[in-house]
Amino acid sequence: MTLRKKLIAGNWKMNKTPSDAAALAAELVATLGKRTEVDVIVCPPFTALEAVGRALDGSTVKLGAQNVHPETSGAFTGEISAPMLRALFTTHVIVGHSERRTLFGETDAFINQKVLAALKNQLRPILCVGESLAERELGSTLKVVQTQLEAALQGVSREQAAGLIVAYEPVWAIGTGKVATTDQAQEVHGFIRGLLTKLFAETVAQRVRILYGGSMKPANAAELLAQKDIDGGLVGGASLEARSFVELVNAAIAAV
Ligand code: 13P
Repeated sequence: MTLRKKLIAGNWKMNKTPSDAAALAAELVATLGKRTEVDVIVCPPFTALEAVGRALDGSTVKLGAQNVHPETSGAFTGEISAPMLRALFTTHVIVGHSERRTLFGETDAFINQKVLAALKNQLRPILCVGESLAERELGSTLKVVQTQLEAALQGVSREQAAGLIVAYEPVWAIGTGKVATTDQAQEVHGFIRGLLTKLFAETVAQRVRILYGGSMKPANAAELLAQKDIDGGLVGGASLEARSFVELVNAAIAAV
């Protein structure tokens, strides 16, 4: 019997105006807004957080952001702080997505600062880790994941760690239609849970949800979600339409 409730999170990336985003959120609320068997989070772009938050109000669907700056305020042109996100009723934030790492040069040290800032401000980080295709082919997947995870979690206390969510997103599976096999995914998820046990405690590691991300679709979700250490999904493309996202949530409900 697992302590972990399954979780499906939609990462809408740089898609949707506030009105398009609110319309999608309203569709999700109509079908999923009272479900409690699994947790559901949507992460719209910053510009749509307020409109989506309004559409989600009174439902069980939670609001997440896609990024956060470590500082509270100041001269950081173009950035958004944790207190600003909290003021819009955001409860979760994606940190360390591979697109941030590769396209915007985010380092493990910077991601660590973001994790700490999120936790300090009662935002739950969804910490993304994952190897590139070249790293997998070199056989260094577990080493890469270990380095990213340990660096990002420096200074996180055992109490704080219980509120953490980790997403394993193999970079070669993101937006490519190439999904990791269930064995490939479970191997890394089990490894991450082992690392969390070493870093914090078995009781903490058993509570942290570890999501899979990378071309998760209704057609492959059930098999992934049946794995012992796969507690849900962080979904890009398939989260942009109500139908496919609802199907993914239903697959998670069926896997409970
Ligand atoms: P896709 O589901 O489009 O592959 O994206 C995954 C992802 O990057 C979620 O954060």
